[in-house]
Amino acid sequence: MTFDLVAQDPASKARAGVLTTAHGTIQTPIFMPVGTAGTVKAVHQRELKEDIKAQIILGNTYHLYLRPGLDVLEKAGGLHKFNGWDRPILTDSGGYQVFSLSGTRKIVEEGVKFRSHIDGSRHLFTPENVMDTQRVIGADIIMAFDECTPYPCDYHYAKNSMERTHRWLQRCIDRFDSTEGKYGYEQTLFPIVQGSTYKDLRTQSAETIASKNRPGNAIGGLSVGEPAEMMYEMTELVCDILPSDKPRYLMGVGTPANILENIALGVDMFDCVLPTRNARNGMLFTTQGIINIRNERWKEDYSPIDAELGGYVSTFYSKAYLRHLMHATEMLGAQIASVHNLTFYLWLVGQAREQILAGTFRPWKDQMVKKLMTRL
Ligand code: GUN
Repeated sequence: MTFDLVAQDPASKARAGVLTTAHGTIQTPIFMPVGTAGTVKAVHQRELKEDIKAQIILGNTYHLYLRPGLDVLEKAGGLHKFNGWDRPILTDSGGYQVFSLSGTRKIVEEGVKFRSHIDGSRHLFTPENVMDTQRVIGADIIMAFDECTPYPCDYHYAKNSMERTHRWLQRCIDRFDSTEGKYGYEQTLFPIVQGSTYKDLRTQSAETIASKNRPGNAIGGLSVGEPAEMMYEMTELVCDILPSDKPRYLMGVGTPANILENIALGVDMFDCVLPTRNARNGMLFTTQGIINIRNERWKEDYSPIDAELGGYVSTFYSKAYLRHLMHATEMLGAQIASVHNLTFYLWLVGQAREQILAGTFRPWKDQMVKKLMTRL
C-alpha cells in the first residue's frame, strides 16, 4: 500500500491524497460505507459503484467469523470473491463489536471471551487469531485488535485498557509480519490509538502507535457519546503526533459536520453506520439539511429527494413517494434511502477533496457545516 499527499489546505490541516491498494486506488479524504456482514445493507454492488461511487467498503471480522464462517470465506477465495466487490475492502478487527456485547464477554490478557449473539456459542478472540481471521477474509486493510473504551471511562480503566491495547498491538504485529496473505495480494495492518478522553493517554498512545511505523494509522475510542468538541480536541492532538505522510483513519465517525470538522484536523478516512442505519429509519442527509422523510410535511411534496445532489435515486424518486414507502414498510423505501444517504456522504467527501485541491476548504467547510446540520 502506498499513500501520496497531493494537496494541503492553506487555512486548516485538511489534506488530499491518493491511497493505492492491491484492489485499486482511493482518493482521500474518503468515506467508507459499512458492510458489516459482507453487504452494505440494502445496497447492490452495482449501485455502490455506479450511483454511490464508493471507493472502499468495510467488513466486520466479528460478524463474518460467526457467519458465514471462515471455511465458507476461504473456499470462496476471500470476501472480495464471495461478495463480488472487486475494489478495496477494510475489515474492523472485532475490537469494537465484541466490546459492545456487554454482559456476554470477558476481557483477559490473552484476549476476549465472548458468546455469539447468534446462537450463544462460546468463542475467544486473541490478537493472533484475529490476524489469522483477517488473513482469511482477505481485506486490503486490516485492523489491530484493540479495546474501544466507553464514555465516560475512569482514568485508571482507560490507562490499563490502553496499555493492554498496546501489548495486543505488538502481538498483532508479530503475527501479521510472520504470515502472508492467502490470495496472492498484499494486506496492510493499521494500529489503533486509544486513550479515551485523557490528553496524556492520547499523547502516549499516539506516540506508541507512530513508533510502530506502519503504513497507516487509526484513531479509535471516539464518537462513543462524548461531546463533539471533546472528540475534535482528541483528534487534533492525535493527528499532530501521527506521521503526516501516512493516512489517518478516524473509526466510527460520524455526522456530515463531524466528518468535515475532522477533515479540517487532518483525518483522511472515515466509516460510520449513520447514513445506512438512519436511512432505514427515514432520516435523510441532503444538500439542504437533514430531513425525516416520514414527516407529514413531505406527504404531498412531489419534488425530487435531492435535486441538487444529483444521482439516480435522489432525482428519480419524489419525497412523497419515499415517504409513502417508509410508512408502508416497503423494502424499496430502505433501499432508496440507503442509496441516497451514501450518495450524499460520498458527494460530501468528494466536494471536500475538490475544495482542498482548490485551496478553499476552510471557508467552504465553515459554511457547509451550518447548512448540512439544519433540520428541515
Ligand atoms: N469502530 C469505532 N471505534 C472503534 C474502535 O475504537 N476500535 C475498533 N476496532 N473499531 C472501532
